[in-house]
Amino acid sequence: MIYKTIHVEASRSYDIIIGRDILPQIAGSIRPLTGDCRLCILTDSTVDALYGDKLVDLLTDAGFAADKFVIPAGEASKCADNLLDFLNFLAECKYTRSDALIAFGGGVVGDLCGLSAALYLRGVKYIQIPTTLLAAVDSSVGGKTAIDIPAGKNLVGAFYQPVLVYCDTALMDTLSPEIYRDGCAEVIKYGVILDKQLYEILQRQPFEREYVVSRCVEIKRDVVQQDEFDNGLRGLLNFGHTFGHAVEKLSDFAVSHGAAVAKGMLLAARMAPLCGLCNVADELVELLHQYGFDLSVDYSADEIYEAILSDKKRRGGDITVVLPRAIGNCTLVTLPVERLYELLKQILTEDYEYKA
Ligand code: GLY
Repeated sequence: MIYKTIHVEASRSYDIIIGRDILPQIAGSIRPLTGDCRLCILTDSTVDALYGDKLVDLLTDAGFAADKFVIPAGEASKCADNLLDFLNFLAECKYTRSDALIAFGGGVVGDLCGLSAALYLRGVKYIQIPTTLLAAVDSSVGGKTAIDIPAGKNLVGAFYQPVLVYCDTALMDTLSPEIYRDGCAEVIKYGVILDKQLYEILQRQPFEREYVVSRCVEIKRDVVQQDEFDNGLRGLLNFGHTFGHAVEKLSDFAVSHGAAVAKGMLLAARMAPLCGLCNVADELVELLHQYGFDLSVDYSADEIYEAILSDKKRRGGDITVVLPRAIGNCTLVTLPVERLYELLKQILTEDYEYKA
């Protein structure tokens, strides 16, 4: 049953349809947007094994021609080789501008498929069907697409909005607890940056998945509509991400995105009082521990600083970080990178409380 339809007004306007057990009706939502066309599904090995054939059958039974391109599950797949292989596959299969792509999976699949859609024939339509909590509340919404390159995560990409996001929360029933928890880090992020009421709901587990996904998507929609191309306000969505991306990179992606964002949110919360803002770190630790996050940081201030220098969010000698003013209220603080280094050294001392 559809729980909520959320409309996004951006350079391309589209609906985000959220509900439980709604996958069987997907063809009815696609056809008005594409007409009868060919649909190429990009998915990963895990999602394919669980739901790949089901989606192909649903689409073909409804009269679409559907193909499937499967990549190995994992962040390492968000790479230039897979991008080119997928583009070649589309060209060999003679996909045209009136056909469309479907991203069926988590953030890796969504980012890779979105970038492929932006590039193939200079742009074809694509649909996001997120299968992880993280993709549902963050990466499938807002049109950021990317691949990783050896110099860093998401360093090559484009802003390119989908024509539809179709989120069936029942697909998340099969997620491992670790992957589900990754998404919880992003959900907690929304509570800290903009919604104290959401934060309080998250303190009472288990939460109603459809409500929480819808609320996070509404918050993201409101931010994206004001700053689609990430020149200001959208930076708030990066709470915990500047430090989190550094940890992910230093661990060679052994620390997952959500786990790294949890550590990054705590580092940002520890930094806030050093910048004259309030201290919500203890409150945040309590919630993150409630969700089972390991908040240890195995890296020195020097290592984190070096990793941050290649961050997209750096502009010249300055970097903007997101710091909490209170639960539900974060602010963007632009600092010279040297000042950030000093702050990191003050936080990550020998007796940092969550040093592993
Ligand atoms: N994931 C942050 C953004 O979409 O801006």
